[in-house]
Amino acid sequence: MNIDSTIISGYGALNDIGYLLAGKRQVLVVTDKNIAGLPAAARLMAQVHANAAGVTLIDSVPPEPSRQDVARIVAGLEETRADMVIGIGGGSVLDVAKLLSLLCAGDAGITLDSLLAGVKPRYKTLSLLVPTTAGTGSEATPNAILAITEQETKVGIISPVMIPDYVALIPELTTSMPARIAASTGIDALCHLLECFTATCANPVSDNVALTGMKKLFANIEIAVSQPDNLEARLNMLWASYYGGSAIAHAGTHLVHAMSYPLGGKYHIAHGIANAILLAPCMAFVRPCAVEKFARVYDLLADGDATLDDDQKSRALVDYLAALVQRLDLPLKLSQLAISPDDIPYLAQSAIDVQRLIKNVPAAVTREQIFSIYHAIR
Ligand SMILES: NC(=O)c1ccc[n+]([C@@H]2O[C@H](COP(=O)([O-])OP(=O)(O)OC[C@H]3O[C@@H](n4cnc5c(N)ncnc54)[C@H](O)[C@@H]3O)[C@@H](O)[C@H]2O)c1
Ligand SMILES: [Zn+2]
Repeated sequence: MNIDSTIISGYGALNDIGYLLAGKRQVLVVTDKNIAGLPAAARLMAQVHANAAGVTLIDSVPPEPSRQDVARIVAGLEETRADMVIGIGGGSVLDVAKLLSLLCAGDAGITLDSLLAGVKPRYKTLSLLVPTTAGTGSEATPNAILAITEQETKVGIISPVMIPDYVALIPELTTSMPARIAASTGIDALCHLLECFTATCANPVSDNVALTGMKKLFANIEIAVSQPDNLEARLNMLWASYYGGSAIAHAGTHLVHAMSYPLGGKYHIAHGIANAILLAPCMAFVRPCAVEKFARVYDLLADGDATLDDDQKSRALVDYLAALVQRLDLPLKLSQLAISPDDIPYLAQSAIDVQRLIKNVPAAVTREQIFSIYHAIR
């Protein structure tokens, strides 16, 4: 998949995006209220206002947005055409910005409902995505994820057309993340990288991208969480997240994401938190079918034991993942999220129904096996 966005990255990038907006008539800025209140975001917005003729601000994107949330935002637009869409936020904001880049492009027949029904868009508005979490990697993927409230799950609208023209990786915009959000969104990036690396659809491009991303992630996630102002660790995490998104574009996630969709869709558990609980148990299930790949990932760890054989390394990696989630102080059990064991049959059915991702699991997996994984972490 072609993901050749122009990337603006680094410590000074915050002051270097104005030229992208020169001559723009109507710019739509998509964000949320938390982000809009950040000093770093205000500096970015000042550049937008100084360079674009007309600016419409949408700051009402909620976390884990639903189909209804996006429909409400679209209905509230006075002007449904824009010549540039800018998303500044976490994955929730970026996914909505990506959808608006399709919906505000004047492509006849493209509505939110037609996109959900699988109609393929032909073009979009010029777009710039600025992630403030690290993260979903949404700025590199062809996906926009929406909660479908009435079905208590999430779906992905998928089109390479949504991949942005510009991406700005600006570490100053991520320093304000509370530790729990930095930790859980970082684990989401790790899930993307590791799932894509072990996916049925993995290929040499996604393998390289995933290994590069995981090396950065293992070396930086705990520093970024414990030292919020460490810009080097923050920038490395933004790159790890970008690589995760790029790996998704080339290969796709599998079991962790299939099993986390109903946790988000039914219980509104934050995406990274749901993935953190599932990461080690799902990887323990996948491990026997991916021993050599797990060993290559283990070799990326700074304090790995090079004398272990591949089987030992693959087991040690699963242990490392569980310990990492614990060190980051993220939940390990469904009960910590007030999810009752009585709901596990529903969760298992809902996860196996996410066939787009289940097909990408490198092992044959049944509803009963998924039930057992949820049951083990009840
Ligand atoms: N498109 C994709 O490829 C893709 C991949 C993974 C996940 N997702 C989707 O992304 C969404 C989750 O995104 P997320 O994990 O980035 O979280 P998020 O965007 O929902 O943000 C979580 C919370 O953190 C706050 N926040 C974000 N950045 C902040 C900052 N710098 N400082 C202070 N607060 C900040 C937000 O305001 C929000 O309250 C879910 O809907 C998920 O399904 C999409
Ligand atoms: Zn994810």
